[in-house]
Amino acid sequence: MKTQAKASAPAKVILLGEHFVVHGAPAIVLAIDKRATAQAQLRRDKQIFISSKAISSSGYFSNGKFHVQEGGKQAKTKLEPIYKLARNLLNLSKKDVGINLKIDSSIPVAAGLGSSAAVAVASAASLNHLLDAGLTKDDIFTMAFEAEKIIHGNPSGVDPAISTYGGVILYRRGEKIRKLDVAVDLPLVIGDTKIERSTGKMIAHVGDLVNRYPVVSDKIIQVGEAVVNRSIQALEHSDLETLGEMMNLNHALLCAIGVSNEHLDRLVYAARKAGALGAKLTGAGGGGCMVALAYPENLDAVAEAINQSGGEAFITEKTVEGVRVES
Ligand code: PMV
Repeated sequence: MKTQAKASAPAKVILLGEHFVVHGAPAIVLAIDKRATAQAQLRRDKQIFISSKAISSSGYFSNGKFHVQEGGKQAKTKLEPIYKLARNLLNLSKKDVGINLKIDSSIPVAAGLGSSAAVAVASAASLNHLLDAGLTKDDIFTMAFEAEKIIHGNPSGVDPAISTYGGVILYRRGEKIRKLDVAVDLPLVIGDTKIERSTGKMIAHVGDLVNRYPVVSDKIIQVGEAVVNRSIQALEHSDLETLGEMMNLNHALLCAIGVSNEHLDRLVYAARKAGALGAKLTGAGGGGCMVALAYPENLDAVAEAINQSGGEAFITEKTVEGVRVES
């Protein structure tokens, strides 16, 4: 039996379709080159020790009881989804052992880049490797999705899906994931407002709106779906200009359902003014990140404009690789 194993999984950017994807519409999402890493190690006792530098939390679970080491009262809430995932994997593998799980991540937390899903996917993969549990990628996705439900309430599953499979995917709840073949580079600038927000609360806000005004919101969701469908065509034809316009349209729809704010809008408008082909918030909104698409020669100017407007910008590209075991 192995004594340790390591795995990593990528962050993501939702290019189009966030929130509407919770309500049955499709979304286009891509993996980016920032990763979360999980290192799993066997322990001599039966305890499960989890530590994460990114969220400054650590502690161990012993017979279901939590003992905090770092992070105070919130540490249990933050670490419990990963504990449940680990417990589940131990039960599946029928191995009566303890583990240390060390999580490391360069993905901004609570910023709309799928950090929690990447952590869950990397954790499942490292434990799967350590315990020889025989999970497939589909199983890893399912396990990470369960952890995401504990954290976010009613997520669509798009985050654990892209973190598991990588590349560019078309995701619709309950349907088979479709990989999109995108030949063209997608030069992107991400702008972080540095305002943390809760994905679960943003999902609940939109859910409430949908319940109160079903006729109106159904129409908006339908337009969201049309925007995604037109964007698939644009991606297939390497037509970045249309894709940019679709991103702008998508941002307007997200404003309509109340998930943008003045911080995100400021960065979005600054990016467009600096030559972006399109710009929109990405993820749950209310803070977190926006994304701009630009020709390579304009990337620096767009990033600079975002920085000048109070955001923190970085340039990124799509990455093919999803979850992977590290040597
Ligand atoms: O985790 P975030 O902040 O990137 O948001 C996920 C995207 C939502 O559509 C808002 C929620 C979901 O589960 O699809």
